[in-house]
Amino acid sequence: MMRNSTRMAALDISSDEFKKAGYKMIDQIANLIEGIEEKPVTYGEAPSKIRQALKDRAMPDDGSSIHKIVDNTADLMLNHSLFNGHPRFWGYITASASPIGALGDLLTASVNANCGAFVLSPMATEIEKQTVQWLAELIGYNNDCGGVLVSGGNMANFTGFLAGRTAKASTSIKTKGIGSLEKKMTVYGSKGTHTWIDKAAILFGHGSEAIRWIDTNEHHQMDNAKLEAAIKQDLDDGHQPFLVVGTAGDVSMGVVDDLAGIRTICDTYGLWMHVDGAYGAPAACVPNQKETFNGLSMADSIALDPHKWLYAPLEAGCTLVKDPQALIRTFSSNPEYYNFGKTDEPETNFFEHSLQNSRGFKALKVWMTLQQAGRKAYEEMIGEDIRLAQVMYDLADAHPDLEAATHSLSIATFRYKPSDKDLSEDQLNELNETLVDRLQYGGEVFVSNAVVDGKYCLRACITNFRTTDQDCEALIEVAVREGSKLI
Ligand SMILES: Cc1ncc(COP(=O)(O)O)c(C=O)c1O
Repeated sequence: MMRNSTRMAALDISSDEFKKAGYKMIDQIANLIEGIEEKPVTYGEAPSKIRQALKDRAMPDDGSSIHKIVDNTADLMLNHSLFNGHPRFWGYITASASPIGALGDLLTASVNANCGAFVLSPMATEIEKQTVQWLAELIGYNNDCGGVLVSGGNMANFTGFLAGRTAKASTSIKTKGIGSLEKKMTVYGSKGTHTWIDKAAILFGHGSEAIRWIDTNEHHQMDNAKLEAAIKQDLDDGHQPFLVVGTAGDVSMGVVDDLAGIRTICDTYGLWMHVDGAYGAPAACVPNQKETFNGLSMADSIALDPHKWLYAPLEAGCTLVKDPQALIRTFSSNPEYYNFGKTDEPETNFFEHSLQNSRGFKALKVWMTLQQAGRKAYEEMIGEDIRLAQVMYDLADAHPDLEAATHSLSIATFRYKPSDKDLSEDQLNELNETLVDRLQYGGEVFVSNAVVDGKYCLRACITNFRTTDQDCEALIEVAVREGSKLI
Protein backbone atom coordinates (compact mmCIF):
# COMPACT_ATOMS: atom_id res chain seq x y z
CA MET A 1 0.00 0.00 0.00
CA MET A 2 1.39 3.42 -0.93
CA ARG A 3 1.34 5.78 1.99
CA ASN A 4 -0.59 8.97 1.48
CA SER A 5 2.01 11.53 2.45
CA THR A 6 0.06 14.65 1.62
CA ARG A 7 -1.28 15.29 5.09
CA MET A 8 2.07 16.04 6.79
CA ALA A 9 0.72 16.30 10.33
CA ALA A 10 2.97 18.13 12.77
CA LEU A 11 3.82 14.95 14.66
CA ASP A 12 4.71 12.88 11.65
CA ILE A 13 8.38 12.43 10.89
CA SER A 14 10.55 11.09 8.11
CA SER A 15 12.60 8.01 8.85
CA ASP A 16 15.77 10.03 8.22
CA GLU A 17 14.81 12.62 10.81
CA PHE A 18 13.92 9.89 13.26
CA LYS A 19 17.25 8.16 12.75
CA LYS A 20 19.21 11.39 13.15
CA ALA A 21 17.53 12.32 16.41
CA GLY A 22 17.37 8.73 17.64
CA TYR A 23 21.01 7.85 16.97
CA LYS A 24 22.09 11.00 18.74
CA MET A 25 20.01 10.12 21.75
CA ILE A 26 21.34 6.57 21.76
CA ASP A 27 24.88 8.01 21.76
CA GLN A 28 24.03 10.16 24.75
CA ILE A 29 22.52 7.21 26.62
CA ALA A 30 25.57 5.08 25.78
CA ASN A 31 27.78 7.81 27.27
CA LEU A 32 25.66 7.78 30.41
CA ILE A 33 26.07 4.02 30.74
CA GLU A 34 29.80 4.16 30.12
CA GLY A 35 30.49 7.11 32.39
CA ILE A 36 27.94 6.56 35.14
CA GLU A 37 30.59 6.09 37.83
CA GLU A 38 32.12 9.47 37.00
CA LYS A 39 28.85 11.23 37.63
CA PRO A 40 27.60 12.13 41.08
CA VAL A 41 24.80 9.85 42.29
CA THR A 42 22.69 13.00 42.34
CA TYR A 43 23.26 16.69 41.73
CA GLY A 44 21.28 17.34 44.89
CA GLU A 45 19.67 20.49 43.48
CA ALA A 46 16.79 22.26 45.22
CA PRO A 47 13.41 22.46 43.42
CA SER A 48 13.99 26.16 42.57
CA LYS A 49 17.29 25.31 40.91
CA ILE A 50 15.63 22.56 38.91
CA ARG A 51 12.83 24.92 37.83
CA GLN A 52 15.45 27.46 36.79
CA ALA A 53 17.04 24.90 34.48
CA LEU A 54 13.64 23.85 33.19
CA LYS A 55 12.55 27.46 32.62
CA ASP A 56 9.10 28.58 33.59
CA ARG A 57 7.19 28.89 30.33
CA ALA A 58 3.72 28.36 28.95
CA MET A 59 2.99 25.59 26.48
CA PRO A 60 4.32 26.84 23.16
CA ASP A 61 1.83 27.83 20.48
CA ASP A 62 4.19 26.70 17.78
CA GLY A 63 6.14 23.50 17.57
CA SER A 64 9.93 23.04 17.53
CA SER A 65 12.38 20.86 15.69
CA ILE A 66 12.76 17.41 17.21
CA HIS A 67 16.54 17.85 17.26
CA LYS A 68 16.26 20.88 19.49
CA ILE A 69 13.79 19.10 21.74
CA VAL A 70 15.91 15.96 22.00
CA ASP A 71 19.07 17.97 22.81
CA ASN A 72 17.34 20.07 25.44
CA THR A 73 15.59 17.11 27.03
CA ALA A 74 18.76 15.01 27.15
CA ASP A 75 20.59 17.93 28.76
CA LEU A 76 17.89 18.34 31.41
CA MET A 77 17.66 14.65 32.21
CA LEU A 78 21.35 13.83 32.11
CA ASN A 79 22.53 16.84 34.08
CA HIS A 80 19.81 17.31 36.69
CA SER A 81 18.78 13.80 37.69
CA LEU A 82 19.47 11.25 40.36
CA PHE A 83 21.02 8.16 38.78
CA ASN A 84 19.82 5.01 40.44
CA GLY A 85 22.04 3.12 37.99
CA HIS A 86 25.07 4.56 39.81
CA PRO A 87 27.05 1.87 41.65
CA ARG A 88 26.68 3.83 44.90
CA PHE A 89 22.90 4.21 44.83
CA TRP A 90 21.29 2.11 47.54
CA GLY A 91 18.28 4.19 48.58
CA TYR A 92 14.77 2.88 49.04
CA ILE A 93 14.30 -0.02 46.61
CA THR A 94 14.97 1.01 43.06
CA ALA A 95 17.28 -1.04 40.91
CA SER A 96 20.07 -0.22 38.56
CA ALA A 97 18.12 -0.76 35.36
CA SER A 98 19.31 -3.04 32.59
CA PRO A 99 20.27 -1.11 29.44
CA ILE A 100 18.51 -3.73 27.31
CA GLY A 101 15.34 -2.76 29.19
CA ALA A 102 15.68 0.77 27.82
CA LEU A 103 15.78 -0.64 24.31
CA GLY A 104 12.74 -2.72 25.18
CA ASP A 105 10.85 0.40 26.21
CA LEU A 106 11.78 2.13 22.95
CA LEU A 107 10.41 -0.80 20.95
CA THR A 108 7.36 -0.95 23.22
CA ALA A 109 6.54 2.69 22.57
CA SER A 110 7.24 2.34 18.86
CA VAL A 111 4.84 -0.55 18.25
CA ASN A 112 2.53 0.83 20.95
CA ALA A 113 0.63 -2.41 21.51
CA ASN A 114 -2.44 -2.08 23.68
CA CYS A 115 -2.11 -5.10 25.94
CA GLY A 116 -5.71 -4.97 27.09
CA ALA A 117 -6.83 -7.44 24.46
CA PHE A 118 -5.19 -10.13 22.36
CA VAL A 119 -6.55 -8.82 19.08
CA LEU A 120 -4.85 -5.47 19.77
CA SER A 121 -1.55 -6.96 20.89
CA PRO A 122 -1.13 -10.52 19.63
CA MET A 123 2.61 -10.95 20.14
CA ALA A 124 2.76 -8.66 23.16
CA THR A 125 0.04 -10.61 24.94
CA GLU A 126 1.82 -13.91 24.41
CA ILE A 127 5.14 -12.39 25.51
CA GLU A 128 3.46 -11.10 28.67
CA LYS A 129 2.09 -14.59 29.36
CA GLN A 130 5.52 -16.10 28.88
CA THR A 131 7.06 -13.46 31.15
CA VAL A 132 4.57 -14.32 33.89
CA GLN A 133 5.44 -17.99 33.46
CA TRP A 134 9.19 -17.31 33.63
CA LEU A 135 8.81 -15.18 36.74
CA ALA A 136 6.81 -17.95 38.41
CA GLU A 137 9.44 -20.53 37.43
CA LEU A 138 12.26 -18.33 38.68
CA ILE A 139 10.87 -18.18 42.20
CA GLY A 140 9.61 -21.77 42.30
CA TYR A 141 5.87 -21.03 41.92
CA ASN A 142 3.52 -23.18 39.84
CA ASN A 143 4.07 -22.15 36.25
CA ASP A 144 0.46 -22.81 35.30
CA CYS A 145 -0.47 -19.95 37.64
CA GLY A 146 -2.24 -16.80 36.53
CA GLY A 147 -0.56 -13.46 36.52
CA VAL A 148 -0.39 -10.00 35.09
CA LEU A 149 2.13 -7.19 34.76
CA VAL A 150 1.28 -4.00 36.61
CA SER A 151 3.07 -0.74 37.37
CA GLY A 152 4.80 -1.75 40.60
CA GLY A 153 4.53 -3.09 44.12
CA ASN A 154 1.50 -1.16 45.24
CA MET A 155 -0.55 -2.22 42.25
CA ALA A 156 0.71 -5.81 42.42
CA ASN A 157 -0.35 -6.02 46.07
CA PHE A 158 -3.70 -4.33 45.38
CA THR A 159 -4.35 -6.92 42.68
CA GLY A 160 -3.65 -9.80 45.07
CA PHE A 161 -5.73 -8.12 47.80
CA LEU A 162 -8.73 -7.77 45.48
CA ALA A 163 -8.44 -11.32 44.17
CA GLY A 164 -8.35 -12.59 47.77
CA ARG A 165 -11.33 -10.47 48.71
CA THR A 166 -13.43 -11.75 45.82
CA ALA A 167 -12.49 -15.32 46.65
CA LYS A 168 -13.30 -15.05 50.35
CA ALA A 169 -16.22 -12.63 50.53
CA SER A 170 -19.38 -14.20 51.87
CA THR A 171 -21.45 -12.61 49.16
CA SER A 172 -20.74 -11.45 45.62
CA ILE A 173 -18.65 -8.30 45.87
CA LYS A 174 -19.25 -7.78 42.16
CA THR A 175 -23.00 -7.55 42.38
CA LYS A 176 -23.77 -6.67 46.01
CA GLY A 177 -20.74 -4.61 46.99
CA ILE A 178 -19.03 -4.57 50.38
CA GLY A 179 -21.90 -2.63 51.92
CA SER A 180 -23.93 -5.84 51.81
CA LEU A 181 -21.49 -7.82 53.97
CA GLU A 182 -22.86 -8.74 57.35
CA LYS A 183 -19.45 -9.20 58.91
CA LYS A 184 -16.50 -6.86 58.87
CA MET A 185 -13.74 -8.36 56.71
CA THR A 186 -10.37 -8.17 58.46
CA VAL A 187 -6.84 -8.38 57.10
CA TYR A 188 -3.57 -9.26 58.86
CA GLY A 189 0.02 -8.24 58.33
CA SER A 190 3.08 -7.65 60.45
CA LYS A 191 4.04 -4.21 61.71
CA GLY A 192 6.65 -4.21 58.96
CA THR A 193 4.06 -4.48 56.17
CA HIS A 194 4.51 -1.80 53.53
CA THR A 195 2.08 1.10 53.43
CA TRP A 196 0.25 -0.31 50.39
CA ILE A 197 -1.97 -2.20 52.84
CA ASP A 198 -3.25 1.08 54.28
CA LYS A 199 -4.09 2.34 50.83
CA ALA A 200 -5.81 -0.92 49.90
CA ALA A 201 -7.97 -1.02 53.03
CA ILE A 202 -8.90 2.63 52.65
CA LEU A 203 -9.45 2.80 48.90
CA PHE A 204 -11.28 -0.51 48.55
CA GLY A 205 -13.82 0.48 51.15
CA HIS A 206 -12.78 -1.40 54.30
CA GLY A 207 -11.15 1.44 56.18
CA SER A 208 -7.79 1.28 57.93
CA GLU A 209 -9.43 -0.16 61.06
CA ALA A 210 -9.89 -3.42 59.16
CA ILE A 211 -6.13 -3.96 59.36
CA ARG A 212 -4.66 -5.95 62.22
CA TRP A 213 -1.02 -4.97 62.63
CA ILE A 214 0.64 -8.02 64.17
CA ASP A 215 3.71 -7.60 66.38
CA THR A 216 7.00 -9.00 65.20
CA ASN A 217 9.23 -11.52 66.99
CA GLU A 218 12.91 -11.16 67.91
CA HIS A 219 13.84 -11.77 64.24
CA HIS A 220 11.50 -8.94 63.16
CA GLN A 221 9.22 -11.50 61.47
CA MET A 222 5.47 -11.51 61.97
CA ASP A 223 4.80 -13.35 65.25
CA ASN A 224 2.64 -16.19 63.99
CA ALA A 225 1.33 -17.06 67.46
CA LYS A 226 0.05 -13.49 67.78
CA LEU A 227 -1.37 -13.70 64.27
CA GLU A 228 -3.39 -16.75 65.17
CA ALA A 229 -4.56 -15.17 68.44
CA ALA A 230 -5.74 -12.08 66.54
CA ILE A 231 -7.66 -14.19 64.03
CA LYS A 232 -9.37 -16.13 66.84
CA GLN A 233 -10.26 -12.91 68.61
CA ASP A 234 -11.84 -11.49 65.45
CA LEU A 235 -13.85 -14.66 64.91
CA ASP A 236 -15.06 -14.46 68.51
CA ASP A 237 -16.03 -10.84 67.91
CA GLY A 238 -18.14 -11.81 64.91
CA HIS A 239 -15.80 -10.51 62.18
CA GLN A 240 -14.66 -12.31 59.04
CA PRO A 241 -10.89 -12.67 58.76
CA PHE A 242 -10.12 -13.09 55.06
CA LEU A 243 -6.53 -12.31 54.17
CA VAL A 244 -3.07 -12.66 55.68
CA VAL A 245 -0.17 -10.76 54.16
CA GLY A 246 3.18 -12.44 54.60
CA THR A 247 6.10 -10.22 53.66
CA ALA A 248 9.06 -11.70 51.79
CA GLY A 249 11.66 -8.98 52.20
CA ASP A 250 10.27 -6.11 54.25
CA VAL A 251 11.00 -2.62 53.07
CA SER A 252 13.04 -1.57 56.11
CA MET A 253 15.24 -4.55 56.90
CA GLY A 254 14.64 -7.21 54.23
CA VAL A 255 13.09 -9.62 56.71
CA VAL A 256 11.19 -12.63 55.33
CA ASP A 257 8.24 -13.84 57.43
CA ASP A 258 7.75 -17.50 58.32
CA LEU A 259 5.71 -18.18 55.20
CA ALA A 260 5.15 -21.90 55.78
CA GLY A 261 3.75 -21.09 59.21
CA ILE A 262 1.42 -18.48 57.68
CA ARG A 263 0.19 -21.07 55.15
CA THR A 264 -0.72 -23.45 57.98
CA ILE A 265 -2.69 -20.73 59.76
CA CYS A 266 -4.47 -19.72 56.53
CA ASP A 267 -5.43 -23.36 55.94
CA THR A 268 -6.73 -23.75 59.47
CA TYR A 269 -9.02 -20.73 59.21
CA GLY A 270 -9.76 -20.77 55.48
CA LEU A 271 -7.96 -17.50 54.68
CA TRP A 272 -6.29 -16.19 51.54
CA MET A 273 -2.50 -16.11 51.80
CA HIS A 274 -0.93 -13.21 49.96
CA VAL A 275 2.82 -12.67 49.94
CA ASP A 276 4.29 -9.24 49.40
CA GLY A 277 7.50 -10.24 47.70
CA ALA A 278 7.70 -6.98 45.77
CA TYR A 279 11.32 -6.60 46.81
CA GLY A 280 12.51 -9.95 48.10
CA ALA A 281 10.78 -12.71 46.11
CA PRO A 282 13.42 -12.89 43.33
CA ALA A 283 15.97 -14.00 45.95
CA ALA A 284 14.04 -17.28 46.17
CA CYS A 285 16.02 -18.33 43.08
CA VAL A 286 19.35 -18.21 44.92
CA PRO A 287 20.26 -21.74 46.06
CA ASN A 288 21.42 -20.79 49.56
CA GLN A 289 18.29 -18.65 50.18
CA LYS A 290 15.68 -21.29 49.35
CA GLU A 291 15.15 -22.23 52.99
CA THR A 292 14.29 -18.62 53.85
CA PHE A 293 11.47 -18.65 51.30
CA ASN A 294 9.97 -21.95 52.36
CA GLY A 295 6.20 -21.61 51.94
CA LEU A 296 6.32 -18.97 49.18
CA SER A 297 5.25 -21.52 46.58
CA MET A 298 2.07 -22.22 48.58
CA ALA A 299 0.80 -18.62 48.57
CA ASP A 300 -2.55 -17.91 46.90
CA SER A 301 -1.09 -14.74 45.43
CA ILE A 302 2.31 -13.09 45.25
CA ALA A 303 3.43 -9.56 44.41
CA LEU A 304 6.91 -9.28 42.92
CA ASP A 305 8.52 -6.36 41.16
CA PRO A 306 10.83 -6.82 38.21
CA HIS A 307 11.69 -3.11 38.62
CA LYS A 308 13.23 -3.88 41.98
CA TRP A 309 15.45 -6.94 42.25
CA LEU A 310 15.21 -8.15 38.66
CA TYR A 311 16.83 -4.92 37.46
CA ALA A 312 14.13 -3.95 34.93
CA PRO A 313 13.54 -0.25 34.30
CA LEU A 314 10.53 1.32 36.02
CA GLU A 315 7.67 0.55 35.81
CA ALA A 316 7.23 -3.19 36.16
CA GLY A 317 5.42 -5.05 38.90
CA CYS A 318 3.74 -8.44 38.70
CA THR A 319 0.97 -10.30 40.51
CA LEU A 320 0.96 -14.08 40.41
CA VAL A 321 -2.08 -16.08 41.50
CA LYS A 322 -2.14 -19.81 42.14
CA ASP A 323 -5.53 -20.16 40.43
CA PRO A 324 -5.62 -18.24 37.11
CA GLN A 325 -9.40 -17.88 37.36
CA ALA A 326 -9.03 -15.81 40.54
CA LEU A 327 -8.10 -12.71 38.55
CA ILE A 328 -10.83 -13.18 35.97
CA ARG A 329 -13.46 -13.66 38.66
CA THR A 330 -12.33 -10.37 40.17
CA PHE A 331 -11.69 -8.11 37.21
CA SER A 332 -13.63 -9.38 34.23
CA SER A 333 -16.49 -7.47 32.71
CA ASN A 334 -17.67 -7.66 29.14
CA PRO A 335 -19.33 -4.59 27.70
CA GLU A 336 -21.11 -4.84 24.36
CA TYR A 337 -18.60 -2.58 22.67
CA TYR A 338 -15.82 -5.17 23.09
CA ASN A 339 -15.58 -7.60 20.26
CA PHE A 340 -12.89 -9.79 21.80
CA GLY A 341 -12.33 -13.51 21.99
CA LYS A 342 -14.45 -14.53 19.01
CA THR A 343 -11.94 -16.87 17.38
CA ASP A 344 -11.77 -20.66 17.67
CA GLU A 345 -8.78 -20.64 19.98
CA PRO A 346 -9.02 -19.16 23.46
CA GLU A 347 -7.41 -15.72 23.68
CA THR A 348 -6.06 -13.97 26.75
CA ASN A 349 -7.47 -10.47 27.17
CA PHE A 350 -5.53 -8.89 30.00
CA PHE A 351 -8.12 -6.20 30.67
CA GLU A 352 -10.03 -9.02 32.38
CA HIS A 353 -7.08 -9.75 34.70
CA SER A 354 -6.33 -6.37 36.24
CA LEU A 355 -7.48 -2.92 37.25
CA GLN A 356 -6.28 -1.45 33.98
CA ASN A 357 -8.12 -1.47 30.69
CA SER A 358 -5.83 -0.06 28.02
CA ARG A 359 -2.44 -1.34 29.02
CA GLY A 360 1.11 -0.64 27.90
CA PHE A 361 3.55 -3.44 27.19
CA LYS A 362 5.46 -3.51 30.48
CA ALA A 363 6.48 -7.12 29.97
CA LEU A 364 8.80 -6.55 27.03
CA LYS A 365 11.66 -4.89 28.92
CA VAL A 366 11.35 -7.57 31.61
CA TRP A 367 11.29 -10.42 29.09
CA MET A 368 14.34 -9.07 27.24
CA THR A 369 16.22 -8.49 30.51
CA LEU A 370 15.46 -12.01 31.77
CA GLN A 371 16.80 -13.45 28.53
CA GLN A 372 19.95 -11.39 28.44
CA ALA A 373 20.99 -12.64 31.86
CA GLY A 374 19.35 -16.05 32.10
CA ARG A 375 18.53 -17.82 35.33
CA LYS A 376 22.13 -18.61 36.32
CA ALA A 377 23.23 -14.99 36.11
CA TYR A 378 20.21 -13.93 38.19
CA GLU A 379 21.26 -16.36 40.89
CA GLU A 380 24.73 -14.89 40.69
CA MET A 381 23.73 -11.19 40.63
CA ILE A 382 21.19 -11.43 43.44
CA GLY A 383 23.55 -13.61 45.46
CA GLU A 384 26.29 -11.01 44.99
CA ASP A 385 24.01 -8.18 46.17
CA ILE A 386 23.30 -10.24 49.30
CA ARG A 387 27.01 -10.84 49.85
CA LEU A 388 27.80 -7.13 49.48
CA ALA A 389 25.13 -6.19 52.03
CA GLN A 390 26.88 -8.60 54.40
CA VAL A 391 30.18 -6.87 53.58
CA MET A 392 28.64 -3.49 54.46
CA TYR A 393 27.29 -4.86 57.71
CA ASP A 394 30.65 -6.41 58.64
CA LEU A 395 32.54 -3.22 57.80
CA ALA A 396 30.15 -1.20 59.96
CA ASP A 397 30.42 -3.78 62.73
CA ALA A 398 34.21 -3.56 62.69
CA HIS A 399 34.35 0.25 62.72
CA PRO A 400 34.70 1.90 66.14
CA ASP A 401 32.45 4.82 65.16
CA LEU A 402 29.64 2.77 63.63
CA GLU A 403 27.11 0.40 65.11
CA ALA A 404 25.84 -2.36 62.82
CA ALA A 405 22.14 -3.09 63.32
CA THR A 406 20.73 -5.63 60.87
CA HIS A 407 21.51 -7.58 57.73
CA SER A 408 18.87 -9.50 55.83
CA LEU A 409 18.70 -10.26 52.08
CA SER A 410 20.47 -7.29 50.44
CA ILE A 411 19.67 -4.72 53.12
CA ALA A 412 22.20 -3.64 55.74
CA THR A 413 21.40 -1.12 58.47
CA PHE A 414 23.81 0.66 60.78
CA ARG A 415 24.25 3.99 62.50
CA TYR A 416 26.97 6.48 63.23
CA LYS A 417 27.93 6.33 66.90
CA PRO A 418 31.21 8.12 67.61
CA SER A 419 33.20 6.15 70.17
CA ASP A 420 34.69 9.23 71.81
CA LYS A 421 31.31 10.89 72.55
CA ASP A 422 28.68 9.97 75.06
CA LEU A 423 25.45 10.73 73.20
CA SER A 424 21.92 9.94 74.32
CA GLU A 425 19.61 7.83 72.13
CA ASP A 426 17.71 10.99 71.14
CA GLN A 427 20.91 12.73 70.15
CA LEU A 428 22.04 9.71 68.17
CA ASN A 429 18.70 9.55 66.37
CA GLU A 430 18.88 13.23 65.49
CA LEU A 431 22.50 12.91 64.39
CA ASN A 432 21.78 9.97 62.11
CA GLU A 433 18.69 11.58 60.63
CA THR A 434 20.76 14.63 59.70
CA LEU A 435 23.47 12.35 58.36
CA VAL A 436 21.00 10.57 56.03
CA ASP A 437 19.82 13.99 54.73
CA ARG A 438 23.38 15.04 54.11
CA LEU A 439 24.30 11.84 52.28
CA GLN A 440 21.17 12.01 50.13
CA TYR A 441 22.03 15.45 48.81
CA GLY A 442 25.83 15.12 48.81
CA GLY A 443 26.06 13.06 45.61
CA GLU A 444 28.80 10.65 46.76
CA VAL A 445 26.58 7.84 48.01
CA PHE A 446 22.82 7.47 48.45
CA VAL A 447 21.23 5.57 51.32
CA SER A 448 17.84 5.88 52.97
CA ASN A 449 16.83 5.21 56.55
CA ALA A 450 15.26 2.57 58.77
CA VAL A 451 14.20 2.74 62.38
CA VAL A 452 15.40 -0.47 64.01
CA ASP A 453 14.11 -1.07 67.54
CA GLY A 454 13.85 2.69 68.04
CA LYS A 455 17.28 3.45 66.57
CA TYR A 456 17.42 5.72 63.52
CA CYS A 457 19.77 3.94 61.11
CA LEU A 458 21.31 4.39 57.71
CA ARG A 459 19.89 1.73 55.42
CA ALA A 460 21.53 0.48 52.23
CA CYS A 461 19.48 -1.76 49.96
CA ILE A 462 21.62 -3.23 47.19
CA THR A 463 19.56 -4.04 44.13
CA ASN A 464 22.41 -2.88 42.00
CA PHE A 465 24.47 -5.08 39.70
CA ARG A 466 27.11 -2.34 39.42
CA THR A 467 28.04 -2.17 43.13
CA THR A 468 31.43 -3.58 44.17
CA ASP A 469 33.32 -4.15 47.43
CA GLN A 470 35.11 -0.81 46.95
CA ASP A 471 31.74 0.96 46.80
CA CYS A 472 30.78 -0.59 50.14
CA GLU A 473 34.07 0.58 51.64
CA ALA A 474 33.38 4.06 50.27
CA LEU A 475 30.01 4.18 52.04
CA ILE A 476 31.66 3.44 55.37
CA GLU A 477 34.30 6.10 54.79
CA VAL A 478 31.82 8.77 53.67
CA ALA A 479 29.38 8.00 56.50
CA VAL A 480 32.08 8.35 59.15
CA ARG A 481 33.61 11.45 57.56
CA GLU A 482 30.29 13.27 57.17
CA GLY A 483 29.06 12.05 60.56
CA SER A 484 32.12 13.48 62.30
CA LYS A 485 31.49 16.88 60.68
CA LEU A 486 28.04 16.97 62.26
CA ILE A 487 29.25 16.56 65.82
C1 LIG B 1 7.90 -4.82 50.39
C2 LIG B 1 7.38 -3.73 49.49
N1 LIG B 1 6.10 -3.77 49.07
C3 LIG B 1 5.58 -2.83 48.27
C4 LIG B 1 6.34 -1.77 47.83
C5 LIG B 1 5.74 -0.74 46.92
O1 LIG B 1 6.32 -0.85 45.65
P1 LIG B 1 6.13 0.30 44.55
O2 LIG B 1 6.87 1.48 45.10
O3 LIG B 1 6.74 -0.27 43.33
O4 LIG B 1 4.68 0.55 44.42
C6 LIG B 1 7.68 -1.67 48.26
C7 LIG B 1 8.50 -0.54 47.85
O5 LIG B 1 9.63 -0.42 48.19
C8 LIG B 1 8.21 -2.69 49.10
O6 LIG B 1 9.46 -2.65 49.50
